[in-house]
Amino acid sequence: MTPADEQREHWSATFAAHPEMYGDEPSEAAVAAADTLAAAGATTVLELGAGQGRDTLYLARRGFQVHALDYAPEGLGAIEAKAGAAGLADRVRIALHDVRQRLPFADDSVDASFSHMLFCMALTTPELDRLVADLRRVVRPGGLVVYTVRTTDDAHYGAGITHGDAMYEHGGFVVHFFDRALIDRLAAGFTLVDITEFTEGELPRRLARVTMRRT
Ligand SMILES: C[S@@+](CC[C@H](N)C(=O)[O-])C[C@H]1O[C@@H](n2cnc3c(N)ncnc32)[C@H](O)[C@@H]1O
Repeated sequence: MTPADEQREHWSATFAAHPEMYGDEPSEAAVAAADTLAAAGATTVLELGAGQGRDTLYLARRGFQVHALDYAPEGLGAIEAKAGAAGLADRVRIALHDVRQRLPFADDSVDASFSHMLFCMALTTPELDRLVADLRRVVRPGGLVVYTVRTTDDAHYGAGITHGDAMYEHGGFVVHFFDRALIDRLAAGFTLVDITEFTEGELPRRLARVTMRRT
């Protein structure tokens, strides 16, 4: 079993045990991304690694049509229930999907993609290369890709169990820590619009929010 397969079981068990792991408030990253996407005229957003939907619901409330993907079914079930209860079912579509596989969307079919802490999961650099190449396929020309990642400034970088490729395991979770070179590498074929550093949580986690435009 690969680290990503093991992580899928870990995320499923974690979401089952902690139905509100990240709470209901949207992430700071999603609030900032929503402003950027709205200003760019986006209406359809592909959210990768949606978790339990704190940002999915926020984006739907902001008026976007959200396609929320994750490989942990427990989180997706929670998103569907919350969207229904909030009267947002028509703005939220969920799909069980592992981002190591080809995205289940047609070419040029979405205005934008958003993902908070998905790229920095147990994905190798070649898997990330394939993922961004596929995002270049499904996001329409001129559309935006906004993603956040934990960076090599994070206190957990270099600590815990090493998995190679700048991936370290802490408390059962594997994180791929990003440096500027990896951000630049993944921007091939996009215009790198912005990199904003921010923190989240108690550690605090040190992250970068990256905005790229499909050229
Ligand atoms: C750090 S959590 C973030 C969840 C959510 N974006 C949030 O901020 O509330 C990472 C999410 O990515 C999902 N994930 C990790 N690897 C994945 C993969 N290969 N394919 C799809 N989802 C994945 C996990 O199941 C988990 O829901």
